[in-house]
Amino acid sequence: MAQLKEWTKVFRARKWMKRAEPVLPLWHGYIGYKYGLFDVLGSGATQAEAQIRLKQPLTTEALSRWFEVGLAVGHLKKKDLRYTATRHVLPELSKSDDRSIGFMLSELMELHLPALFSYPQFLEDGQQKTFNGEEHGDIVAETSALVETVAFPAVRHIIRSQNVTSLLDIGCAYGGYLRKIHEALPELRLAGIDIEESVIAEAKRRDTTGEIDFVVGDIKSFEVKETYDGVMMNNILYYFPKEERLRLLEGVRRFVKDAGTVILVTPLRDSEYGAPFSAAFNAFMTLHDNLYPLPGKQELTEQLHAAGFENVSISPFLKEGAWYIVTANATS
Ligand SMILES: C[S@@+](CC[C@H](N)C(=O)[O-])C[C@H]1O[C@@H](n2cnc3c(N)ncnc32)[C@H](O)[C@@H]1O
Repeated sequence: MAQLKEWTKVFRARKWMKRAEPVLPLWHGYIGYKYGLFDVLGSGATQAEAQIRLKQPLTTEALSRWFEVGLAVGHLKKKDLRYTATRHVLPELSKSDDRSIGFMLSELMELHLPALFSYPQFLEDGQQKTFNGEEHGDIVAETSALVETVAFPAVRHIIRSQNVTSLLDIGCAYGGYLRKIHEALPELRLAGIDIEESVIAEAKRRDTTGEIDFVVGDIKSFEVKETYDGVMMNNILYYFPKEERLRLLEGVRRFVKDAGTVILVTPLRDSEYGAPFSAAFNAFMTLHDNLYPLPGKQELTEQLHAAGFENVSISPFLKEGAWYIVTANATS
């Protein structure tokens, strides 16, 4: 009987160790991306050669262990004393290739996992963290661009089908959506506002046409000088607590012409899709004292109605991420 108990524990432990194994390639890929290690291997290098090619000196013993893990997880190959990066990690985790998605591993390892590791403290004494938008802004902007790529065809379809001729993007960040819209539909009058001065400076720099009107402003207090027949506000609801969202949507309503369209690209909670992502997202938001859990469909619909919108439509476009495109028309 005692032996059965011991073996049961071994089987359970083995199951959990297997579950933990996928963290190893993630860790290895993150380190490789961060220090440009895959790039310096090029068509093959010994560890000593790789070390010479590195931009910054790294501890030899620590690096040896990274090489060993790389062989174990299939990121590296070794022939004689020379290592090469396998074809699937280059260009995926290259530091210099613009097809790389290494920044996403950085976001996971530097932002999301550390936040989840501090959960015990939050549970025990309620101590929250403060999200530092300046520190993580660039990485968040890069990962947001992935969502933008997936959402854009649907956004373009809505703009065309609703006959939108002028559009304001609230919380536009680097203006990625606006630049894509300008390229596809150059006749539209486009404007973007964002609360961060440095973000707007970068948005202006990236708009080589100079035809998009970018302004620094806080949507909560921004003065309405012009109205638009389309207003977009993507991935911003979680910056506002539930009770402030109604005021936010009422603020948005002031910029929309009667019968005009509001477009919100946002993850939602209580989603029939992507439950693990949505749950983890909300845990992350709740942990921070300046971020807030996502709204559910019903809550958002009710708030849109209360703010002066009708014909609310909520459609998933990135199911594994519980991401939706919400549209509504301003009441006349
Ligand atoms: C997560 S980013 C989303 C960027 C972009 N809309 C997208 O979906 O890719 C949120 C943006 O909203 C901006 N923001 C936050 N609070 C704001 C406010 N009160 N007024 C204007 N912009 C705000 C932030 O500076 C940030 O650039």
